[in-house]
Amino acid sequence: MAQSDEAVHRTPFELVGGATIVRQVVDRFYDLMDSEPAYTALRAVHAADLTPMRASLAGFLNAWLGGPRDWFVEHPGVCVMSAHTRIAINRETSDQWTDAMRRAIQESPIDPELGAKMAEALAGMAQGMIKRSAAAA
Ligand code: HEM
Repeated sequence: MAQSDEAVHRTPFELVGGATIVRQVVDRFYDLMDSEPAYTALRAVHAADLTPMRASLAGFLNAWLGGPRDWFVEHPGVCVMSAHTRIAINRETSDQWTDAMRRAIQESPIDPELGAKMAEALAGMAQGMIKRSAAAA
């Protein structure tokens, strides 16, 4: 089915439902990480209090999807890849991040086709964060 002109000109941020839906995905992502044994290794590398991370990841995703760019104003000169250089990310924690995010997106009201594209792009980024020395872990 052809996309309407309106859909073509809307940003992914608008198409997912804006900041409310982005925050819903982020909250579900951290709730899953915080509660499910499948994400124990990923949880272990995070600080005890996930509150600042909920705000930061939501802000980053808003901007990444073409919405408000506040996160980049608040983090001048920071790219999300370089923000992870000091974190020991291995295949296990990268895969857990990707899996929890895919689930959080799937459980949200985001259109499944758009959600799958988002999850795929984020999976590629999470894979790119794996440290060479830890890649085999
Ligand atoms: C596409 C993938 C990812 C995105 C978009 C992302 C996004 C973010 C953002 C926005 C921050 C906050 C930076 C700040 O406020 O200064 C952050 C911090 C962090 N990320 Fe990621 N991240 C990703 C993948 C991962 C993976 C695979 C791991 C696995 C270990 C990870 C672990 C962490 C940790 C430990 C922190 C610091 C949190 C804390 O202080 O508790 N991230 N990430």
